[in-house]
Amino acid sequence: MPISPVLERQATYPFVRLNEAAARVEARGVTVLDFGMGDPMEPTDPLIREALVAGLRDRMGYPAAVGLPELREAVAAWAGRRFGIELDPDREIVPTLGSKEAIFSFAQIAVDLERGKDTVAYTEPGYPVYERGALFAHARPLALPLLEEHGFLPDLDAIDVDTWGRLAVFWVNYPNNPTGAVAPLAFYERLAQLARVHDFVLASDEAYTELWFVEPPASALQLADRTNVAVFNTLSKRSSMTGYRSGFVAGDPELVAALKAFRPTIGTAPQEFVQRASVVAWGDETHVERTRALYARKRALFLDLFGRKGIRVAGSEATMYLWLEVPAAESSEGFAQRLLEHGVLVAPGSYLGAAGEGYFRLALVPSEEECARAVEILQEVL
Ligand SMILES: Cc1ncc(COP(=O)(O)O)c(C=O)c1O
Repeated sequence: MPISPVLERQATYPFVRLNEAAARVEARGVTVLDFGMGDPMEPTDPLIREALVAGLRDRMGYPAAVGLPELREAVAAWAGRRFGIELDPDREIVPTLGSKEAIFSFAQIAVDLERGKDTVAYTEPGYPVYERGALFAHARPLALPLLEEHGFLPDLDAIDVDTWGRLAVFWVNYPNNPTGAVAPLAFYERLAQLARVHDFVLASDEAYTELWFVEPPASALQLADRTNVAVFNTLSKRSSMTGYRSGFVAGDPELVAALKAFRPTIGTAPQEFVQRASVVAWGDETHVERTRALYARKRALFLDLFGRKGIRVAGSEATMYLWLEVPAAESSEGFAQRLLEHGVLVAPGSYLGAAGEGYFRLALVPSEEECARAVEILQEVL
């Protein structure tokens, strides 16, 4: 059977391994509280759900890849309020089916092997889709470690001129999954400048910009010059809408035009009723404020526990994740396994990339009650 060697070489998606381990523990009768994956378990706001139902028609034809004008206008209006910027809904925005598919396929529109633009850079530990998208586009993946001593930002000075020249895409993700670190606007300014000099795309995955606790994080959309810049955002985390699949790409009109040319072939426009629900979601901040307050309460519970237990919190300025140092003498995987035996599932940092060894990630997604239960368990175990 002809199966792509890229697919055959692929390791099991780390969370599949994690869920298999959890299933083995559950089979022994232990209830597992799942802090592993970042899938919000809170109900989606009723106004959004009602808009979805109201969007159903007798006949729903194929959704157009460019999306409903109302949705692009809602995104532009949101970005205007949130970042104080102007986006042209027709030339600078395209809706996506959540952001994962758009992140995965982006290398296919940017990589140009004939011209030697063969490299896709991304940071690790991190979301695995940047690398997989690069591999399936037959590009050269370049993993850049996120180290605490650099504030969990990639070390741009460590990249040589030859590599800059070969870059097609440079992925960054702030607020960062898994470290919870944020990037200052100056970081985007420097990288966007390099993107123009060396002619690559600065692809900024901003899935977590709305989950903050102190001050709203910056966006690459705030750059005065967005040439060679593409920003990916989503309703998944901001509005607890992972199951709806709704996001957008915004930025350089030339890139948006390329996406509009590419996307009809793969058929990844969100369903029209999802787009109508999304208009409501981007238009309302009340539910987002409630969501932030909820994560802040859960976060405080754990910060208090880890403070008492001497577990060091690293990064963790924003996002739904806490990034924590594994106690000395234990590996990330061994530590996570130990917690799992007691019914608390966390992600070993090493599952998210080699530079994640020595850390573990806690996704604050279970209910407040479950968080309180996990704190009681960890109070005994740690
Ligand atoms: C860093 C990052 N980017 C993108 C996504 C994709 O989100 P979605 O496809 O639900 O929009 C996730 C999901 O966990 C993520 O962690």
